[in-house]
Amino acid sequence: MFPRDFAWGAATSAYQIEGGWQADGKGPSIWDTFCHEKRGVHGGQNGDVSCNSYELWEKDLECIQQLGLTHYRLSLSWARLLPDGTTRNVNRRGVQYYNRVIDDLLACNVSPMVTLYHFDLPQAIQDLGGWKSPGVATLFDSYAKFCFQTFGDRVKLWITINEPHVCAKLGHEDGIHAPGLKEKGTAAYLVGHNMLRAHASAWHSYDSAYRATQKGAVSLALNSDWLEPLDPGCREDVESAERDLAFTLGWFAWPVFVTGDYPEIMRSAVETQSKALGYRGDFRLPTFSKDDPPILGTADFFALNNYTSRKVKSGGCGEQTLSMKRDLDAEELLDPSWPICGVSWLAVVPHGLRKLLKYIKDVFNNPAIYITENGFAQVGPLQTEDVERCNFYKSTILEVAKAIEEDGVDVRGYFAWSLMDNFEWADGFSVRFGLFHVDFSDAELRRTIYRSGREYAKIISEYKSRRLT
Ligand code: NOJ
Repeated sequence: MFPRDFAWGAATSAYQIEGGWQADGKGPSIWDTFCHEKRGVHGGQNGDVSCNSYELWEKDLECIQQLGLTHYRLSLSWARLLPDGTTRNVNRRGVQYYNRVIDDLLACNVSPMVTLYHFDLPQAIQDLGGWKSPGVATLFDSYAKFCFQTFGDRVKLWITINEPHVCAKLGHEDGIHAPGLKEKGTAAYLVGHNMLRAHASAWHSYDSAYRATQKGAVSLALNSDWLEPLDPGCREDVESAERDLAFTLGWFAWPVFVTGDYPEIMRSAVETQSKALGYRGDFRLPTFSKDDPPILGTADFFALNNYTSRKVKSGGCGEQTLSMKRDLDAEELLDPSWPICGVSWLAVVPHGLRKLLKYIKDVFNNPAIYITENGFAQVGPLQTEDVERCNFYKSTILEVAKAIEEDGVDVRGYFAWSLMDNFEWADGFSVRFGLFHVDFSDAELRRTIYRSGREYAKIISEYKSRRLT
């Protein structure tokens, strides 16, 4: 059911697993600051040590091998490589660390997929205005070129930015992620815009200077729930679901895959709400400048992070002042039949992923798709025999197979989130997404496979053996 060269992967990110927050010359990132300033992370926890992958990488590699992964998605810590964010000051020990990780993976026949930016901006760049400042795009481009130059002889799959939607909204509108800003209705649009500019610059740099020799592919990882109208017979609900998809996935996918600009529904919604409050219509959602590298066409594949689904109905936000919620003017609901796993936001709806894959095929011109994240959370008492998570993976992978076989979607790979339990941002260590359990109370941070890890390994080995016949 899966193509012969299908990528069977698992994913992690630097801040969530590495620890070593100031080891060997690493500079601080906005997540170091956010956690140390106790800005609302569960239990005042932080990623200072986390899984200590900076020192225990070989333990991670054992996990990767035990699962039989063909691919491993990791992220680079910008501030570990470039402590002040600029290429004027390269931290050689950081380069050595990632060289070792990449070389070890390849020696074990595992292909790395490398994310350049997974939520952890160098604090030095935040101090200059961070993602709100237009100059960040040039700094990101220099960092990206440095990474292509240093690691691109071996890395063939690149993600520039992970989940720009989450960085922009949770970090700058809701304030629950670093840098903790709550500038409602303005900052997130600016941040998203600069992230797109940064991504596009990096893609063009790869395209013009590295692609011919390195022969890799570059994209950005977009998160989206599957969103469908609460009542498909109600025009307002249908329009609300369309608007919600435009504000989530379309915000970034439309400029990159369809028109080079934001979805019209999003532009007009922001304009309408601005005018209603007496502002100029075009003052919040920026326009793309002709002086910047074009955005359209800057993805060699579609990278999708999907976890769950929502029913959408119109209105109901009641916000009196500018905010993204007011612009969206829609309410997201859970279907009572959907089980909730661990965290409140994660309703288990495996068929939602299939619908979303089909939607991406239809709307974004049948791109090659990698599912760069998908997973199931556990909270409360530890269950290493995690039967529900096993069922989740089995049914989700079946839905992906149906998307490929029955809907003709070009899915190239599936990455489980996550290789092991780790620092789950504002939820700290209270939420466990791993295929391996990490005992954070043990000095050695022992990794133990969950039943779901064994199940995933079995699925992978079955497909690998079919591939040989
Ligand atoms: C998406 C993010 O990329 C990742 O960092 C996070 O841990 C998972 N979602 C689960 O919330």
